[in-house]
Amino acid sequence: MPQSELGQIEPLLQEFDNTRANLIPILQQIQATCSYLPQEALRRVARKLQVPLSDVYQVATFYRCFSLKPRGKHLVQVCLGTACHVRGGQKVLERTQVETGVDAAGTSADMQFTVEAVRCLGCCGLAPVMRVDKTTFAHVEQTKVRGLLTRYRPRKPATSEAEKTPAVPAESTLVHGGDHA
Ligand code: FES
Repeated sequence: MPQSELGQIEPLLQEFDNTRANLIPILQQIQATCSYLPQEALRRVARKLQVPLSDVYQVATFYRCFSLKPRGKHLVQVCLGTACHVRGGQKVLERTQVETGVDAAGTSADMQFTVEAVRCLGCCGLAPVMRVDKTTFAHVEQTKVRGLLTRYRPRKPATSEAEKTPAVPAESTLVHGGDHA
């Protein structure tokens, strides 16, 4: 575990009491800070809360929001549930994998994106659906994927107003047509 991550974990742990009820909130904070749950961090959580390490792992592997492997800065979920699949979800997924350049494990070399296929995001009427972090994109066409991801890429210095990248949408947003005006 890199020293920089370790340096972030210790102050974070100090913010919580040593009660077992804090297990999930602590893991959420570590996940948000490091984009995954490093093994050493899980050991420290177990020590702090005085719970078996196996219990910590059980929680860490039960919830999809946690990852034991490093994740990209942005989590891209492409729905392959029935409604999305019949409306081209697979093509959207393949285009997303190409555009982000993710490896077999689903994460891009620049750690900007992690792409995963999911089963039903709960809004089948908007199929095909894709979610990036907390923003849900409805009626996504594979030809729109590149533009849709542009706002999540690192910004280059803009040389003109026209070249400026659109801002990342606010949290828990629904965007129709894979377009964000
Ligand atoms: S099948 Fe994709 S949102 Fe339900």
